Amino acid sequence: MNWRQSQIPPLNEVQFKSWQTMLEERTGMYIPYERRSLLQSSLAIRMREVECHDYDAYFKRVQERPAGVKEWATLVDRIMVRETRFCRNSESLELVERYLKHRIAGMAEERPINIWSVGCCTGEEPYSLAITCNEAFEANDRAPKFGVSGTDISLPALQIAREGRYSRRQMSNMNPEWISRYFIEQEAGQFVVGPEIRERVCFSMSNIVDIARNPLRNLDVIYCQNVLVYFREERKHLVLDNLADRLAPGGLLVIAQGETSKWHNDLLHKVDDNLTLAFVRREQPYATKNTH
Ligand SMILES: C[S@@+](CC[C@H](N)C(=O)[O-])C[C@H]1O[C@@H](n2cnc3c(N)ncnc32)[C@H](O)[C@@H]1O
Repeated sequence: MNWRQSQIPPLNEVQFKSWQTMLEERTGMYIPYERRSLLQSSLAIRMREVECHDYDAYFKRVQERPAGVKEWATLVDRIMVRETRFCRNSESLELVERYLKHRIAGMAEERPINIWSVGCCTGEEPYSLAITCNEAFEANDRAPKFGVSGTDISLPALQIAREGRYSRRQMSNMNPEWISRYFIEQEAGQFVVGPEIRERVCFSMSNIVDIARNPLRNLDVIYCQNVLVYFREERKHLVLDNLADRLAPGGLLVIAQGETSKWHNDLLHKVDDNLTLAFVRREQPYATKNTH
């Protein structure tokens, strides 16, 4: 029996530790030893595809520059959990809608609303946010003026997001009125995002671990759901602190419930709502020190 037909050889402890460390350093994702089968099966499937039969040799291959960069991107996409849906976390989206209606109503001058969907996966989340924002402008009788940036570490996921093409099943969560208003039905059961929304959403590759290099700033809404779930608490706090810095005064940060329990940042106050986990940036900088 050759390696291809045989059972996946188990990662030994040293090999597991090397992969675990590299994955966490490069993506933030922390896989505890008890869940090593997740890493092992993703590695083994990819290694079969590239006909590499040794975990250590494959480890070296993805570290090589520049050749390993492309292979690493493919592997990361295989390891990442790509679960997403339109209008997932409906309570969080409803909070954004209420918030935006109020914010737009209070805007004295004509200025755009800027939204960031962090870990946007295949696009369902940023398109849902764009529709929500469009509805909030209409509710205020104002011409829509906004942009949504979707970022993710996975290039294949971003490619699907840019195409903006979804099946009826993928849209089963969405309000039917939104489907007929904002999507164009192509062949049976296949929809593409219509121009009104598509032109407002842009996608780019960005790794949240390298958040300092991301140019987005002064955001009205940052929506970061189900991305930090595999991060260790300390790293979550670093990312969230950085996101807090990027909010405009009065801006809203929404994270998934249960994604962190202990995080606190003096720039923000928590939204009083049992169904979501969200924070608003104070209008004035929070005085932590008496400077007099
Ligand atoms: C479970 S999906 C959640 C998608 C969407 N936010 C939602 O809630 O439906 C997690 C997404 O986070 C992305 N992701 C994971 N680690 C990341 C990182 N370090 N930087 C950017 N995106 C990351 C994954 O590629 C994946 O698309």
